[in-house]
Amino acid sequence: MTMNKPKVFVTRRWPARVEQQLSDLFDATLNTDDYPLSLSELIDAMQNSDAVLPTVSDRITAEVLTVQPRQTQIIASFGVGFNHIDLDAAKSEGLTVTNTPDVLTDCTADLAITLMLSLARRAGEGERHVRNGSWSGWRPTHMMATRVTGKKLGLVGMGRIARAVAKRAHQGFEMEVSFYDPFLPPQEMLSNIEANSCKSLEQLLSSSDFISIHCPGSKETHHLIDANAISHIQPHAFLINTARGDVIDEQALVTALNNNQIAGAALDVYEFEPVIDDELLAMDNVVLLPHLGSATLETREAMGMRVIENLKAFFAGEQPPDKLI
Ligand code: DGY
Repeated sequence: MTMNKPKVFVTRRWPARVEQQLSDLFDATLNTDDYPLSLSELIDAMQNSDAVLPTVSDRITAEVLTVQPRQTQIIASFGVGFNHIDLDAAKSEGLTVTNTPDVLTDCTADLAITLMLSLARRAGEGERHVRNGSWSGWRPTHMMATRVTGKKLGLVGMGRIARAVAKRAHQGFEMEVSFYDPFLPPQEMLSNIEANSCKSLEQLLSSSDFISIHCPGSKETHHLIDANAISHIQPHAFLINTARGDVIDEQALVTALNNNQIAGAALDVYEFEPVIDDELLAMDNVVLLPHLGSATLETREAMGMRVIENLKAFFAGEQPPDKLI
C-alpha cells in the first residue's frame, strides 16, 4: 500500500534545487510565476494543504490562520523573522510554526557591512556619478567621504547576526563595538567577541559613529528608533538597518535626514515594504537595497533545505528542529 505524500503549498518561487526536493518528497504546489498571493489564495491554501510554506513577505494573519474547515497543520516559513505570522493566533489554533535560523547569519552580516561601507564611502552616489557621465577625473577634494576603520559601531540587539557583524567590524575594520540588548545573550556567546554592553539605547545611540539595527521585528520593537531616539544620534553618525523596516519610524528618519540631524542612512528593509518614501529615494546620503540580506544562492538554498528538514521531522511525528510554537 502506498501512503499519500503530504500536500505542501509554497507561496513564492524558491531556488530550483529546493523546489526539486520539495517535489520529490511531497505533493508540492509551487508558485512558478512568483506572484504575491492574495488573502483568499492563502486561505484556500490553508484549507487544501497539509503544510503552508510562506515567506517573510506573506501576511499570515489571524484571518488566514483561523479559517474553518482547515487542513493545514504546520506553517513552515522560509526566513528567520516571524513578525509576518500571528503567532498568538497560530498557537490558539494548535498549529506548528517553524522558521530558518542560523543559515542566513553570515550573509546578512556581510550585507550590513556592505551597507556601512557603501554609506560611509559614498559608493552608491559615486556609482551614479560615473554612470551619468558626471565624472571629470581624479582630484584631491572629489567626493570626500568618512573613514570606517577604527570608528565606533553601535549594535541595537546582540543576537546571532549582530554578533557576526561585531566580529567583522572589530577584526576587519578595527572598530570599537558596543551594543544594547535588554535580553543579553549568555556570556559564552559573547566570550570571543570584543564588544561593550551599553546600559541604555540612548547611551549607545549617543556614543556611536555607525548604528546598525539587529533586533527582531515585534510589537515591542515597532518604532524603537523614533524621533526621540534619533535625537540622541550624533550629527556625524550613520544609521543602518538590515533587520525589520518598522523598527525605525521612517517618517521620523526622513525628517531627521532633511534637518541634517544625522549624516545618512543605509536601508535594506522598509516600514511599508516594498513602498519606499519618495523623499528617501531622492536623497544622496541614503543607500537603499531591496531586502537582500539573505539573498545569496548558497544561503537561500540552505534556508529552503532547513524548511524541508522541519517538514520531514513534523510529518515523521517528531519535533521540527526550528519549532517556534
Ligand atoms: C528573514 O529571513 O527574516 C529575512 O528578512 C529574509 O531572509
